[in-house]
Amino acid sequence: MSDRQLFTEEGSAEVVAASFDDTPDPRLKQVMTSLVRHLHAFVKDVELTEEEWGSAIDFLTRTGHMSNEVRQEFILLSDVLGVSMLVETINHRTGGTSTESTVLGPFHMVESPRRELGDDINLDRKGTPCLVSGRVTGPDGEPLAGASVDVWQTNEDGFYDVQQPGIQPAGNLRGLFTADADGRFWFRSVVPRYYPIPDDGPVGQLLAATGRHPNRPAHLHFIVAAPGYRPVTTHVFVADSPYLDSDAVFGVKESLIREVPEVDDPARAAEVGLANPFRTLTFDLTLLRADQAPAAAQPAQAQPTVVRGAPS
Ligand code: BEZ
Ligand code: FE
Repeated sequence: MSDRQLFTEEGSAEVVAASFDDTPDPRLKQVMTSLVRHLHAFVKDVELTEEEWGSAIDFLTRTGHMSNEVRQEFILLSDVLGVSMLVETINHRTGGTSTESTVLGPFHMVESPRRELGDDINLDRKGTPCLVSGRVTGPDGEPLAGASVDVWQTNEDGFYDVQQPGIQPAGNLRGLFTADADGRFWFRSVVPRYYPIPDDGPVGQLLAATGRHPNRPAHLHFIVAAPGYRPVTTHVFVADSPYLDSDAVFGVKESLIREVPEVDDPARAAEVGLANPFRTLTFDLTLLRADQAPAAAQPAQAQPTVVRGAPS
C-alpha cells in the first residue's frame, strides 16, 4: 500500500486541508483549513449538483460584475447572509457594558458636514420634525466632553441624499457634531423611514427567489468617538417602524430600539425651533475605554457609497 493521500469522496476535506500544511502564516492556515472543511461538509450535506455548482459560479461572477467604486454587491451579499452582522458582533462584544454596534452600511460619506449643536440637518424642510438628543458617557458614567457624533439617515421617503442628487441637497440629513462639556448632543431632523437595500442586482434576485423582502426598518446611523475610548458604529431604530423583526441585513438589536414620542406643545416647539407638533428621539451612548477593547479587529473600513436610483 502506498501512503499517497489521494482525493476520495469520504476523505476530500482532509486531503485538501492537508494541502495547506506548509502555509507560513498560521492564521491563514487556520482560516483556509476551516474554510475547506466547512465547504466540503456543505457540498456533501446538500449533494450539490453540477448545475447548481454552475449557477453558484454564475451568481458570484455577476456579483463581481455588479461591484465597482460606488457599489459593493459582495458586501451586500455578506449583509443579507448575516455575515456582516456576525463579524461586527464578534469583533465588538460589549458584555452588556456599552452601546451595541451594528453594520456601517454603504451610505456613509467619510466627510459628514460639520454642524453646530442644535442645527437642523433637514435641509429641504420635508418630513415629520424630530428633535434628536443624547449623551455620550464612558463605562463609569463619566461624560465624554467633545465626543464626535457623526449621524446620517434617510428622509421621509426612505432615501439618503446620495441616492437622490439633484432632488435632495448634498449633505441633507447628515452631520458631524461635537458633544458639549457634559457629553450631550442635540440636533433637529425628521423621522427617518424604512427603505429597501439596493435590490436591482444579484442579491436582490436572491432575495426575490427566496421570498425575502429587501427592507430595513427606519433608523439613524451613528459613529461616535472620543479620544481614549473605543468608537462605536451603530444605529438607533424607530420603535414603531415596520420590519423591525425582519431587517434584510439582520442589523436590529433590542438595545438599539427607541420610542419616538410626539410632543404637542407650541411653546416647547418654538423653544427648540421646530414646527408643532414634533417628535423626540433620545439616544444615550456608552463607549468602552480603549484599554477595555478586546484585541480583535477594529470597526469595518468605510464602505463605498451605493447610489440607489441615481442616474448611471
Ligand atoms: C444601511 O443601513 O444604510 C444599509 C446597511 C446594509 C446594507 C444596505 C444599507
Ligand atoms: Fe441605513
